Amino acid sequence: MVKICCIGAGYVGGPTMAVIALKCPNIQVAVVDISVQRINAWNSDQLPIYEPGLDDVVKGCRGKNLFFSTDVNKHVCESDIVFVSVNTPTKTRGLGAGKAADLTYWESAARMIADVAKSDKIVVEKSTVPVKTAEAIEKILTHNSKGINFQILSNPEFLAEGTAIQDLFNPDRVLIGGRETPEGNKAVKALKDVYAHWVPEDRILTTNLWSAELSKLAANAFLAQRISSVNAMSALCEATGADVTQVSYAVGKDTRIGPKFLNASVGFGGSCFQKDILNLVYICDCNGLPEVAEYWKQVIKINDYQKNRFVNRVVASMFNTVSNKKVAILGFAFKKDTGDTRETPAIDVCQGLLGDKAQLSIYDPQVNEDQIQRDLTMKKFDWDHPLHLQPMSPTAVKKVSVVWDAYEATKDAHAVCILTEWDEFKKLDYKRIYDNMQKPAFIFDGRNIVNAEKMREIGFIVYSIGKPLDAWLKDMPAVA
Ligand code: NAD
Ligand code: UGA
Repeated sequence: MVKICCIGAGYVGGPTMAVIALKCPNIQVAVVDISVQRINAWNSDQLPIYEPGLDDVVKGCRGKNLFFSTDVNKHVCESDIVFVSVNTPTKTRGLGAGKAADLTYWESAARMIADVAKSDKIVVEKSTVPVKTAEAIEKILTHNSKGINFQILSNPEFLAEGTAIQDLFNPDRVLIGGRETPEGNKAVKALKDVYAHWVPEDRILTTNLWSAELSKLAANAFLAQRISSVNAMSALCEATGADVTQVSYAVGKDTRIGPKFLNASVGFGGSCFQKDILNLVYICDCNGLPEVAEYWKQVIKINDYQKNRFVNRVVASMFNTVSNKKVAILGFAFKKDTGDTRETPAIDVCQGLLGDKAQLSIYDPQVNEDQIQRDLTMKKFDWDHPLHLQPMSPTAVKKVSVVWDAYEATKDAHAVCILTEWDEFKKLDYKRIYDNMQKPAFIFDGRNIVNAEKMREIGFIVYSIGKPLDAWLKDMPAVA
């Protein structure tokens, strides 16, 4: 029986391994982590991450051919294929600080594999890593190998949170990069055979190692670039009276462009887009390509601009001050159908409003108070470390309350900011909300999910990203 082990039981390691176990009953899969809390949660009824469909997949194979454990050494030692899906945060200190990937966790995983291995292994990069990481990993493994043969493969993950299970069941492609040697080809074939249990052969792409590593960074950069492009257009739409939804629909009808990923928003968030682009920028700089680096940096600058612009719209519309005004924040997760708050635009928007002394009342169906307080007090990039190693601020933000109901959050508020596109926010009774708010009552829709005309009929002053502005807002300056 083939044995697989995955180091790192996070948003990627957990769901990907659960799906491999479900689709390959003849393979034994162990997911290991240094975080005891995480592993305990994977072994309980309350999984550590919220992902539609995940519970059923885990229940279907946990205890049969899927195991979650903190006994990292044992499972690595017994495995034929070892996936590494650990954190690859942005460096905050030293060479490349603020851009380069911090490979501390990866390196310690590689050293541990070299230490405990007693038989040949295929080591698979599942984490997103800089191009040429495989070369460094190979050096660590072979320098310690006691005659053991290690083959390194790059098999980046393309799942998106909220649709992870669907994406894993039916991927657009699976990408496997390996060394172009007989041993390398054999390792690629072994991994291909795993995916071939459920992924059609023509969707399993094989490339050299560097193409696989770079394709992952490139895919995220292209996706984020589309959002920054449409968000840049949204600012121009507001200035000219065009409607960004109409513009992106018209643009997306061109089959060469396509309709997906053209929704204007308060900005993209999530654990990867910013991190991976910063990483790409650093690699370009290191390779003497400052113009290319500058090009990709702009995708992040526009994203920051969009978040600032939103905050400025809120403050400017409300007579240039939100000091001590209650502002309801609907949605804190970085997108709907996840409880993940890593790099969520809500953090920047809330911090911007708190900077202007607003009183925030936050509601998100999947994010609890503890998480929100941690996010609002944590330093940039600190979130991307294993849970038990994250520095905790001893003080909470006093001007923030977290509630478990949208009506409670909006009661007596001066304004509502919609920051995540949860379906339930589309179905709220906005007349009831309006009646219970201070007047004039404002809605700032950072996801374009409410019908602005209907809201205006109720009496709200409405701001929707990239849409023709209310007369009220037109007179207010909103320069970021
Ligand atoms: P995560 O923080 O949820 O999970 C990483 C896990 O690795 C943590 O539980 C941590 O405790 C564990 N870990 C760290 N060092 C370890 C070690 N030496 N031994 C054992 N366990 C260790 O992160 P994630 O979101 O799953 O991302 C993992 C990687 O996958 C990152 O490189 C990320 O860029 C990439 N990625 C993420 C997504 C996504 O949607 N989240 C999608 C594609 C790729
Ligand atoms: C993204 C990619 O879509 C995955 O392919 C990739 O594997 C993953 O990053 C990763 O490497 O971590 P994810 O961040 O989970 O997945 O979610 P997305 O659906 O890509 O959304 C990212 C952000 O962009 C969210 O804040 C979302 O609200 C925003 N977005 C998305 C928009 O503002 N407009 C859009 O049209 C689409």
